[in-house]
Amino acid sequence: MAENKRFYITTPIYYPSAKLHIGHTYCTTVADTIARYKRLAGYTVRFLTGSDEHGQKIQRAAEERGITPIEYTNEIVATFQNLWKRLNISNDDFIRTTDARHERVVQALFQRAYDNGDIYKAEYEGWYCTPCESFWTEQKLGDNHTCPDCGRPVELVKEESYFFKMNKYADRWLQFIEEHPDFIQPESRRNEMIQFVKQGLEDLCVSRTSFDWGIQVPFDKKHVVYVWFDALVNYISALEPTIDGDTLTGDLYHTFWPADLHLVGKEIVRFHTIIWPIMLMSLGLPLPKQVFGHGWLIVDGTKMSKSLGNVIDPIPLIDTYGSDALRYFLLSEIQLGNDGNFTLPNFVQRINSDLANDLGNLLNRTVAMIEKYHHGILTKCDSTSEFDTDLVALAMQTVTDYEQHMEHMELNKALKAVWTFISRTNKYIDETTPWILAKHSHDGDEERLQAVMYHLAEALRIIAILVSPIIPSGAPRIWEQLGLTGFDKITLQDATTWGQIPTGTKVMKGEPIYPRFDIPEMIEVSSDIEKEKGTVVTNTEEGKPVEDSTVETIPPIKELISYDDFEKLDLRVAKVLTCEKVKKSKKLLKFTLDVGVEERTVVSGISNYYEPEELIGKKVIYLANLSPRKLMGIESYGMILSASDFSEHLEVTAIQDMAPGSLVK
Ligand code: MSP
Repeated sequence: MAENKRFYITTPIYYPSAKLHIGHTYCTTVADTIARYKRLAGYTVRFLTGSDEHGQKIQRAAEERGITPIEYTNEIVATFQNLWKRLNISNDDFIRTTDARHERVVQALFQRAYDNGDIYKAEYEGWYCTPCESFWTEQKLGDNHTCPDCGRPVELVKEESYFFKMNKYADRWLQFIEEHPDFIQPESRRNEMIQFVKQGLEDLCVSRTSFDWGIQVPFDKKHVVYVWFDALVNYISALEPTIDGDTLTGDLYHTFWPADLHLVGKEIVRFHTIIWPIMLMSLGLPLPKQVFGHGWLIVDGTKMSKSLGNVIDPIPLIDTYGSDALRYFLLSEIQLGNDGNFTLPNFVQRINSDLANDLGNLLNRTVAMIEKYHHGILTKCDSTSEFDTDLVALAMQTVTDYEQHMEHMELNKALKAVWTFISRTNKYIDETTPWILAKHSHDGDEERLQAVMYHLAEALRIIAILVSPIIPSGAPRIWEQLGLTGFDKITLQDATTWGQIPTGTKVMKGEPIYPRFDIPEMIEVSSDIEKEKGTVVTNTEEGKPVEDSTVETIPPIKELISYDDFEKLDLRVAKVLTCEKVKKSKKLLKFTLDVGVEERTVVSGISNYYEPEELIGKKVIYLANLSPRKLMGIESYGMILSASDFSEHLEVTAIQDMAPGSLVK
């Protein structure tokens, strides 16, 4: 594992032209996960993000609002910083292109390129896409004079400009790319860029005179530096180098340049892999090690964009579901490099099944059992059964696989490996049946029960470490409920040895870390999200209406009842306070419920579907005014309603996974 290594990772700096949507959060979430993973693996990490505030687009947006560009960007940049905080983004720095530290470096580097003869004055006459801030020749335009990148109309521009000699470096660039096959990732983007350069590079217009919102060209005050020349320099200016003639010095610069990874969206790979390296070649500075072009988050088949009206605001999503939920979905659903789809039902289903059910329930059940069987105290035990050795072996294999996938930026594969281990740990509970061991603890099963509890806690300790870069809000809460301290000092190394929880550690049951949600509740999140309601259900696998294989067995609808009849039913929400198996019964669970006005005892035949621990603290729908009846000697009051689809499936706490036609009774 890496010791004393450094890692410099950047996201693009975002235009403050509008509010950021969940598409923007994708890149930052991926970068944050990589940064957190690298820290966990022992690297000294610098993680940079920021805002790209100059240019014609911003100037126009400010004019429309009747405020100055800096007033405009100050306001929007504050919302970016708030969003990154809410999403638990661990950036070490936030660069604004309006910072004096940035402007100084842009001017110095522009001057340097001019002094070494790579910048010359001429007149630009051609096309410009203001939303993309990019120049286009007539031949490259789409139909009806549209931008080949974003499809929006371009404008004809004719003005005095400085030009940068891109063409001079085309051969050197091709040679560099050949010698550094990993520089552009994924492979498909590399081939695209090679084709682009082979078709011939034009010199690039690097200053503008038709507006003034930008950094002044140091030797010609009429000009402002072209926004992309300005923006790309952020990756170096944030390291605050001292510039002395041709040399850049300074601690941060020395430690972190060249950057290890520029993570960018696919439509700006061209700027990062052609213009930026050629600028650095001209300036005699080292090139970054890698540019990775990720895909887009797609809604209804198109890239999310404000002009298409299909943007989803991340803040209400985070308010309702939590930052971990959004992070988890983005990371697990999209293979880095490919596009991925967002639909609200798919999102809710993923977080319900993977976070609430698989991970959350594993923690709840484990901590509840340790409290119930051993007053919360763990005792260190060796593996004594094949289930134990199997679990330990998979834990160790998972750490190895996870590290390899993370190092190769296969984030969704890393997540998959961890969730396979989570499922295996859940299965371990079923295999070892702790509730049966507890019954026979006086007949010699006590030691075995302790070993099972210890193995569950250890599995969760390792899981907490591995998920910490992915779901940084939940991971420390798992740690805390296991009764462990020092979460801020964990390393990946800690996950490679089994059996680190000391004897005597006392677990502490807390609130469930990931609640389950149902879709109707979600739909009200924001008006943007509401748009999802009508369209999304059909366009993903998970969102499809549940295929019902039991259609023939669904009974017909019963005869009509009057409203008065319905009114007689006292249906209400109740909270499960206690839940235990009924002795000598295979099917029955005995509950104490908080029904609002009092506590009730009720017996329900759902023992085949739920472990008692799983239901404690959950809310259920309860029919309060059913005549009491005696079951296995226990007086049962009222009835807990459950949905059943006539197969193995039965739900008490949520119905999202049930087939239409399932009966509620
Ligand atoms: N300001 C430039 C970057 C300059 S970097 C020196 C810019 N800004 S942007 O705000 O338009 O986009 C920032 C990033 O967000 C880009 O990497 C872009 O690909 C990404 N995304 C914007 N919409 C996206 C999706 N729908 N999905 C995934 N990423 C998306 O470009």
